[in-house]
Parts: sequence; C-alpha cells; structure tokens
Amino acid sequence: MYTIDLSGKVALILGVANHRSIAWAIGQILHQAGAKLAISYQNERLKESVDELAAPLKDTLLLECDVSRDDHVPLMMKAVAERFRRLDIVVHSIAFANREDLGGKFSETGREGFRLAMDISAYSLIPIVRHAAPLMTDGGSILTLTFHASERVFPGYNIMGTAKAALENEVRQLAAELGEKNIRVNAISAGPLDTLSSRVISGYRDMKRIHQERSPMKRNISHEEVAKTALYLCSDLSSGVTGAVIPVDTGYSIMGI
Ligand SMILES: NC(=O)c1ccc[n+]([C@@H]2O[C@H](COP(=O)([O-])OP(=O)(O)OC[C@H]3O[C@@H](n4cnc5c(N)ncnc54)[C@H](O)[C@@H]3O)[C@@H](O)[C@H]2O)c1
Repeated sequence: MYTIDLSGKVALILGVANHRSIAWAIGQILHQAGAKLAISYQNERLKESVDELAAPLKDTLLLECDVSRDDHVPLMMKAVAERFRRLDIVVHSIAFANREDLGGKFSETGREGFRLAMDISAYSLIPIVRHAAPLMTDGGSILTLTFHASERVFPGYNIMGTAKAALENEVRQLAAELGEKNIRVNAISAGPLDTLSSRVISGYRDMKRIHQERSPMKRNISHEEVAKTALYLCSDLSSGVTGAVIPVDTGYSIMGI
C-alpha cells in the first residue's frame, strides 16, 4: 500500500487481457490508492476473465472497447460519463501486430501488417485522448506504454518498434496540445515483462536474458515497478511532468554495450 490518495478520482484502464497484463497491475495500484475504475476489454472473448479479475474491486465499471472500431471509443466514454460524471486518469496499454510481423526480416513487413500494427498500437491513443479530454474538466493524466525499440533496434520487435516511435511522438504532440487544460500525457518505457503480448515476440527470451546481464541493476523489472511509476504519473506528485517518456528498465537504456 502506497500513501498516495486518489480518492474522488476516476481512472479508465484500457488493455486488461489477464492477470499478467501491465494494465491490470496499474489498475490495481490505482484502485488501492482510492481511484474508482472503469476497465475496458477488447472483445466478448476476454469479458469473462476480466469480469473475474475485477470482481473484488468495488464500484468498477466494465466496458467493451475494440479500438479498431470507430464507434467503440465514443460509446465507452459516454458510458464512463454517465456512470461517473468525470474522468481524471486514462491508461492506454494496448498494442497488436500479426505474429508474422514480430520476427524475421523487417524488410518483409507487408502493407496490411504495417497498417494494422500502427492502427492498434499507435493511432488508437489519438481518438481515446480526443474523447477523454472533454471529461477531464479538473485536469487529468493520460499514460501510455512504450518500449525502447522506438529508438534502438531489437531484432524481432520489428514493426512494433516503428509503432512505438509513432506513439512516443504522439505523446509529445498531445501533451503540447492539452497542457493548458492541465491534462498531462506521458509514457512509461518498460523493460521486458512476461505477458500475452511479449511472449509472441521472437527473441523475447534473449531480450530478457540480455537485459538482466547488461542493465546497471543486473536484473529485470517487475510489473509492480511499472505500476508504481504509473501511480506517480497519474497522481499530483508528477504535476509538472508532461510529454515525457520515462524508462522503467533497471537502467538498460543508458548502456552503450
Ligand atoms: N510486456 C512487455 O515486455 C512490454 C514492455 C514495454 C511495453 N509494453 C507495452 O505494454 C502494453 C500492454 O501490453 P502487455 O505486455 O501488458 O500485454 P497484454 O497482451 O496483456 O496487453 C495488450 C492489450 O492490448 C489489447 N488489445 C489488442 N488489440 C486491441 C484492440 N483492437 N482493441 C482493444 N484492445 C486491444 C489486448 O486485449 C490486451 O489487453 C503494450 O502497449 C505493450 O507494447 C509491454
């Protein structure tokens, strides 16, 4: 339990698939700090498991939102507004690419695979922010999840590196646009964590091993460490921070070799 008080705040969490999802770790810590939660799940297939996970969290609103559907985001925000009448925090923890685009030669990336990865993993933040901002009447904090492959080559990460570069650029443009409304937009650049999504990346095991060997702290990170930084970014403790990409990577990204 951390002594940051988010009571009275409402947080919308996108990207919970199961108990290993980074979004779930963040949702739990925000709830422990007193925030009320709305949690969205991608589709009917995930509803039951998300329902089960969220059952112990009092007053939580569950919503379906497939970000590839233009109508889903505004409908989700409407439901949040009807239930809570406000929104303070949004956590965007969503990414997707076809398995064949997460390995092999990057030069083999096809147009449709490129489009899909960019659409789900990068574009989706824009309509979410567009529809969330009007509900953030008392300012707000928007957070997304990125990876160091936006700047450096991680073989296997391929198109997702391109998508993360776009996402980080969006964070800066959105932060510049919304700053006057006291709405902050930031990203956490997390080190490798075992989740449904990461396990699909070819070479993920090597990525984790090398991270442990070469990072200054000589270990991998935990879900809880990402969640704690998210708590800071979603609370008033970070009131002067916007447009930032904050690494939670035991220092891996500072190393030359
Ligand atoms: N796990 C890692 O090593 C790691 C490291 C750095 C950054 N990240 C990022 O963290 C975020 C969360 O990933 P995770 O590792 O927790 O894996 P995850 O598989 O648990 O989460 C990914 C989420 O994206 C959702 N999603 C995919 N397509 C969607 C769509 N069309 N509409 C709505 N939701 C959709 C999935 O349902 C899932 O909940 C991603 O942006 C990922 O790139 C992960």
